[in-house]
Amino acid sequence: MENTDLVGAEFDELRRLAHQKFGIIVPANAQSFLDSRLRGFMSMSGHSSVAELLHEARSDGREDLLINVVEHLSTNHSYFYREPAHFEFLAKRLLPELSERLKRDRSRDIRIWSAAAAAGEEAYSVVMAMREFFGPHYQDLDAGILATDIATAALRRGALGEYKSDLFRHMPPDWKQKYLEYLGDDTYRVIQAVRDDVMFRWLNLTEPLDKLRGRYHLILCRNVMIYFDDATRENLVRNLSNLLAPGGYLFIGHTDNPDHARIYLDQIQPAIFRKKAKT
Ligand SMILES: C[S@@+](CC[C@H](N)C(=O)[O-])C[C@H]1O[C@@H](n2cnc3c(N)ncnc32)[C@H](O)[C@@H]1O
Repeated sequence: MENTDLVGAEFDELRRLAHQKFGIIVPANAQSFLDSRLRGFMSMSGHSSVAELLHEARSDGREDLLINVVEHLSTNHSYFYREPAHFEFLAKRLLPELSERLKRDRSRDIRIWSAAAAAGEEAYSVVMAMREFFGPHYQDLDAGILATDIATAALRRGALGEYKSDLFRHMPPDWKQKYLEYLGDDTYRVIQAVRDDVMFRWLNLTEPLDKLRGRYHLILCRNVMIYFDDATRENLVRNLSNLLAPGGYLFIGHTDNPDHARIYLDQIQPAIFRKKAKT
C-alpha cells in the first residue's frame, strides 16, 4: 500500500528543495494541494513513500527526479495570445521599431527569448505575430525564438506543438486558420513552418545565465516571478536586463511586481520595459 500522505517535515523539506534549486516559494498552506499532486507523480514514478522519493531526489545525480517533483508543484499553465496588450505592443511599436533598425543596420537577425516558456504557447504566439507583421518579408529574416523552462514534460509538449482547442480561445480567429492544423479529437498542431522557428531548451532562471549570448531584442519573462522571493526576482531582472540589446524590451506578467524591473530598465507601459538605446 503506497504511503503518499505528506507529513510536516517532508513538506518542509520539499519546500526547501524547491526554493534552493529553483527559487520557487511554495506557500506554507499548500500542503494538501501538494499532497494530491505528489500522489499523481508517485503513481507514475513507482515510489512508495514521500520519504523514499525525497531521499532519492536529494542524492547526487538525481537532479532529473527533483526537477520532476518540482514540475508537479508549480503550474505550467499558459495559453496562446495571453495578455493581448503585449501582442498589440509587439505589432504596433516593437516590430515597426525593430524593422526600421534592421534596415538601418543592414541586419536580418531578430533575437527573442521566451524565458519560462511552459509548453511554448507564448513563443509560438510571438512567431505568429511576427509572420503577421512582416508578411512575405518574414522569409528574409533570421528570426528564431529560444524557449526555455525547467519543466521537461512541458518542453517536450512544446516541441511536439500539439494542443487542445481551449488554449487557442484568445487568439485572433484568422491565426487559427493560418497557423494550426486540426488533428481530430479537439487537438490542433502548430504548422511546421512556425514550429521550426522555436528552439526548446532546459534552463533554470535562478542559475547564472552567462551561457546565453544575449543581445535579445525582446525577452518575455511572464508569470514566473510570482513564484520567486524578492532577492531571486531582483537578481533575475538584473541578469535579464544585461542580456537585452540596447533598446531591447522586457515583457513581464501583468500580475508580476514591476518594482525590480524599474531599477534596471525604463517602464514603457504596465508590464513592458525597455533598455536604453545607445545614444
Ligand atoms: C505559469 S507558467 C508561465 C508560462 C508563460 N510564460 C506565460 O506567461 O503564460 C510558469 C513557468 O515557469 C516555469 N519555472 C518555474 N521556475 C522556474 C525556474 N527557476 N527557471 C525556469 N522556469 C521556471 C514553470 O515550469 C512554468 O512552466
